[in-house]
Amino acid sequence: MSKTQVQRHTRWGIFIHWFNAACWFFLLATGVALISNHDLNPLGAWYPATVRAIFGGGANLLAAHWGLGLVWLAVWLVYLVMHMSRFVAPFIKEIFTLDPNRDLEWMIKKNLQMTLGYKMMGRLVKPLGWDGHIPPQGYYNAGQKLVAQVLVLAGAVLVATGLMLVSSKYFLSAADAWVVQWSITIHFIAAGITTALLILHIYMAAISRDERPAFISMFSGTVPLEYAQHHHQLWYQELSEQKPSEVV
Ligand code: HEM
Repeated sequence: MSKTQVQRHTRWGIFIHWFNAACWFFLLATGVALISNHDLNPLGAWYPATVRAIFGGGANLLAAHWGLGLVWLAVWLVYLVMHMSRFVAPFIKEIFTLDPNRDLEWMIKKNLQMTLGYKMMGRLVKPLGWDGHIPPQGYYNAGQKLVAQVLVLAGAVLVATGLMLVSSKYFLSAADAWVVQWSITIHFIAAGITTALLILHIYMAAISRDERPAFISMFSGTVPLEYAQHHHQLWYQELSEQKPSEVV
């Protein structure tokens, strides 16, 4: 590979990504330990008992979960105000800009290629009128866009239901118990969906060798030119036409 690098992430983008990751690990670890019904706890009774002991009881554990959730939200609100036009709005536009035919074709071909190899993928997609080439992708590929869309929406649901649960302690009465029950259920579902997608995200980003340059870019901010051309061809073309200086 040549040494030429392409700018992919800003320093603030890298900061908010790893801040998200750290908060998510903590909130998941404490959230699972808050489940007091042992039949529902995915790890069994030992896990909540151990974590509660570490925090000095269930009340402290709940306070830590709420506290970090509120810190996460506060940092995000500052980030949204400071970086709305430079990072957040372009990110939202990028992940919600779909090309249904290209995205569907990429999803089907990429999954077949990863599980069965290029040759078999080429054979299997022939009846659909496609050749064996994976369609070029933009800044994010179709899989990354789908994961990011669901993470953003599930994140908003987690914040809304989390705030509802915190405020229920102070503002809601016994007659509003149904609001709390629904908030808990929806909070659990959103956390479950987020966890499932993040396992996939972490596998693709940190374990898959194919995506190793993207993993390194989450620290360095840059990817090799060949990686950009091969994995995100449409983004690379756009970048070299509009901002040749981003190629360093
Ligand atoms: C150990 C955990 C994690 C690893 C190794 C990891 C790795 C990565 C990498 C390498 C990228 C860049 C992909 C690219 O440039 O094409 C990325 C992007 C992203 N990750 Fe993660 N991630 C982790 C955890 C998380 C968590 C917990 C969240 C959400 C709560 C998250 C949300 C995202 C989002 C939304 C993007 C796209 C935004 C961007 O490119 O800045 N990640 N991740």
